[in-house]
Amino acid sequence: MCGIVGYIGTKRAYPILIKGLQRLEYRGYDSAGVAMISETGSLNVYKAKGKVSDLEAFCQEKDITGCAGIAHTRWATHGEPNSTNAHPHYSASGRLALIHNGIIENYLTLKEKLIERGIQFRSVTDSEVLVQLVEYIMQNNGIELLEAVQVALHQVIGAYAIAILDREHPDTIICARQSSPLVVGLGDDGAFYLASDASPIAEYTDKVVYLNDGDIAVLQLGKELKVVNMDNETQHPKVKQIDVTLGQLEKGGYPYFMLKEIFEQPGCLRDCMRGRINVDADRITLSAVIDYREKLVSARRIIIVACGTSWHAGLIGKQLFESLCRIPVEVEYASEFRYRDPVIYPDDVVVAISQSGETADTLAAIELARKAGAFVFGVCNAIGASIPRQTSTGVYIHVGPEIGVASTKAFTGQVTVLSMLALCIANERRTIPGEQYKEMVKELTQIPDKMEQALKTNEQIERLAPIFTYAKNCLYLGRGYNFPVALEGALKLKEISYIHAEGYPAAEMKHGPIALIDSEMPVFVIATRDRLYEKVISNIQEVRARGGRVTALVTEGDTQIQKFADHIITLPDTLECFQPLIASIPLQLLAYHIAVCKGKDVDRPRNLAKSVTVE
Ligand code: M6R
Repeated sequence: MCGIVGYIGTKRAYPILIKGLQRLEYRGYDSAGVAMISETGSLNVYKAKGKVSDLEAFCQEKDITGCAGIAHTRWATHGEPNSTNAHPHYSASGRLALIHNGIIENYLTLKEKLIERGIQFRSVTDSEVLVQLVEYIMQNNGIELLEAVQVALHQVIGAYAIAILDREHPDTIICARQSSPLVVGLGDDGAFYLASDASPIAEYTDKVVYLNDGDIAVLQLGKELKVVNMDNETQHPKVKQIDVTLGQLEKGGYPYFMLKEIFEQPGCLRDCMRGRINVDADRITLSAVIDYREKLVSARRIIIVACGTSWHAGLIGKQLFESLCRIPVEVEYASEFRYRDPVIYPDDVVVAISQSGETADTLAAIELARKAGAFVFGVCNAIGASIPRQTSTGVYIHVGPEIGVASTKAFTGQVTVLSMLALCIANERRTIPGEQYKEMVKELTQIPDKMEQALKTNEQIERLAPIFTYAKNCLYLGRGYNFPVALEGALKLKEISYIHAEGYPAAEMKHGPIALIDSEMPVFVIATRDRLYEKVISNIQEVRARGGRVTALVTEGDTQIQKFADHIITLPDTLECFQPLIASIPLQLLAYHIAVCKGKDVDRPRNLAKSVTVE
């Protein structure tokens, strides 16, 4: 969602801010803006509806001088996307400019009080209330910015990451965080960088501080980073080293990040397993399982909480944990779980899965589980994000930054971590024989090679894609481990091509969706060879009998399904439980190529945000 960038140093701020906004474009936004204190001391704010490139065009004839600035990409929540509602927002006198990510829940009450005291508002956003409130407190109490921010934040209910520029103090940016991410980069030359995640900072410094909830940071050029809380007590956040490389943030010759990320998957899974599976490929070691063995091994139940693609990974996790570890598992949409008053036992293990580590609903579900005394385990990609910091322990998936809004490599990374976790726990609980454990671990290490083979279907899928671009609806069918793959395939298509698609358990089709089938609706069936193979063939025949057009994903060597399908995509064989790691690849490619054929912006689909930091 919204993105924050800031810089204070000795270089020109504008190019750093614009580049930073471009790096954050993947998060999703509909307007952008920048504020800088110019060489002559004026505080200039420029904003534009649309892309960062529209902002650049708007700034062409403007004063873009100055070495201190803040910038923002806005994903509209309160008020339509236009240049007035875009950030930064000026204070009434024009002395301050503020950017904000998150939602101020009590903004209407605060706004009414400010209006009663004569403050006029320019926008309809909740964010503007913050800057007007801070300036009002400064003026009314004769206090400086830091103290006014502390007083103001005591009155605010909601989630925020904010950054404020003060024309009277051009060497300082003040920022604060509550339930919305904010990272400070420490330059070698006394400069400070600020961003919603490490991607805009990585090319300037590898030293960062991830602010914690309640932190207020003072970035003063040439001074040590000062972090306090609302009560002015000094905080001591740790300086961390980021391991994001520039190559990970560039497209590397691919037309879109999504395609790059699809093709990166074999390497990503090798990284994910590196150091965790030994060289003989017969043993998995996860430090979280060693450190918290008792909690995990004696879990009464596992509750998986997640959203979107991560929820689909959770559905695969359920099958892994139940069949290998014999632990009952529930998979919950975090957004439903948090409000449902669920029964949570202290000996439950709650597994929170999230690529970004910032999803508001998943964070709220974690909070609920923690309050109920459950042990919370995180499966996350973004290093240092909120979820890994709010869980008792966890495992990073280590697939590198995922920039494409449609999640691909994070999904297979999540499934790989869940596979390793289930195998570790099963081995500790002795719920699978030692030999089976070793065979499964070995097979898991073969998956990246098999993925490479699966990626060879790319050209075939590119050729097939135009056939499907005119479809209004598509159906994805799968059973067992492949049912979540069907859901995920359908979600990918919806997100980037805007074609309506449904994932369904193949056998459930006859209880309703079969009514939709005709020659106009493509049906994609995951029909790899497993326990339910023969049954899936029957389901394909049911589709064919009603004139449906079937594209089937089959295991190499299959000779049966081609008799019933219009198109066959052949995949390498693997164990049933690892099939999602292979079968997802052609479905990702299919969604990608269909969207490209339809001329869609694959990396930045309309209305979507990469990290959903509001509920
Ligand atoms: O960062 P998270 O994994 O918590 O995000 C959850 C969903 O918002 C996310 O998976 C979303 O569904 C993706 N756009 C799917 O491609």
